[in-house]
Amino acid sequence: MTKLTLRDLEVRGQRVLVRVDFNVSTEERDGHLAITDDTRIRESLPTINYLRENGAKTILMAHFGRPKGKPVEKYSLRPVADYLHTLINHPVAFSHETIGKIPEEIIDHMKEGDVTLLENVRFHPGEEANDPVFAEALAKLGDLYVNDAFGAAHRAHASTAGITKFVKQSAMGFLMEKEIQYLSHELTKPAKPFVVILGGSKVSDKIGVIKALMEKADSILIGGAMANTFWKAQGVRIGSSRVEADKLDLAREILELAKEKKVRFLLPVDALEAQKIEPGATARNTSRVMPEHGITDGWQAVDIGHATISLYEDEIAKAKTILWNGPVGIFEIPAFATGTIAIAEALARSKATTIIGGGDSVTAVKQAGLADKMTFISTGGGASLELIEGKELPGIAALSGRP
Ligand code: ADP
Ligand code: 3PG
Ligand code: MG
Repeated sequence: MTKLTLRDLEVRGQRVLVRVDFNVSTEERDGHLAITDDTRIRESLPTINYLRENGAKTILMAHFGRPKGKPVEKYSLRPVADYLHTLINHPVAFSHETIGKIPEEIIDHMKEGDVTLLENVRFHPGEEANDPVFAEALAKLGDLYVNDAFGAAHRAHASTAGITKFVKQSAMGFLMEKEIQYLSHELTKPAKPFVVILGGSKVSDKIGVIKALMEKADSILIGGAMANTFWKAQGVRIGSSRVEADKLDLAREILELAKEKKVRFLLPVDALEAQKIEPGATARNTSRVMPEHGITDGWQAVDIGHATISLYEDEIAKAKTILWNGPVGIFEIPAFATGTIAIAEALARSKATTIIGGGDSVTAVKQAGLADKMTFISTGGGASLELIEGKELPGIAALSGRP
């Protein structure tokens, strides 16, 4: 690793500004906001606890939602401060102003081991604009900077990137380190066979990832709506299935590339087809879609079919490294979740290193109750895809280098 890590810093007695990703999913319950998935908060605990144990004053910065540069009550981080208090068993001071006199005063009164959370950095337009004035105002609140917000590391914002110009030293936190370890280092020279499962809605969202993985994967298994675009590109009838009609050339280019790179590039051989996308809709398994059958006119592919599940299970069973990104069906509707759950179960059975590359596949694995059976589950969405793709993330690039 070429960047400083938290262990490289002398944190005792220092005010350490820590950017975390507390952009958690919430739900309105009896008039208050309940956190429905606290993974991102829990995953920041190793960094927060290390700082507390080593006598730092920890000042947490985070964004929540997309309030577009002004205060919006429902995007306040106050409920998260209360929640964090219960997790670390220590009070968490909340500053309802992000910068200025109010947080300065709270921080002046902090003792070693204390924790303060600042209000949503996105309440200020300077955050997303990466305005140096706002970045400097944040930096003024601390001595050292730690970025542990992997999920936001693909954003060049004031609290993720700009701030590093105004602090003595900036380092990555333990979550950031772990994400880089699995999504980058482990995938540089993966134990073979290396099997990749890609699903989700669009080929165009994942084109960079597909091309990057083509260099390393032994097999790539395609599912989700993305499969429809590959089918159509080869002249298979897809009924009313969701498709990116303007990406057929791109799909053909990828199929060619797979041949050239000698990657087993597998498309579903059958599907669950439904008349409507809603719970209770009539659905049935198609016969083999390739090459002549396709999806019935007026119907749409909503999940991979039985034959595809078996085919993919066999590929997964042979793997030593598995990367999965994107559900293979509309898993939000239980009747269309069979394929996605089967993939999650196949990964859970496998002895391979299993990496869930963020996004909706993480939700699916959690819903299936199989999260603790995976080697690694990313906390990122867009950030995971960009890291897998091999892009430089602004939130990592901005940190101090190792001498
Ligand atoms: P990820 O977040 O894992 O990267 P995406 O956001 O690209 O994945 O896609 C996830 C969405 O794709 C899910 O909401 C799912 O319902 C949808 N999806 C999966 N399969 C299909 C399909 N066959 N037709 C339409 N939508 C699908
Ligand atoms: C996420 O939830 O993916 C990250 O926190 C980034 O949020 P954003 O897409 O609003 O920048
Ligand atoms: Mg998604």
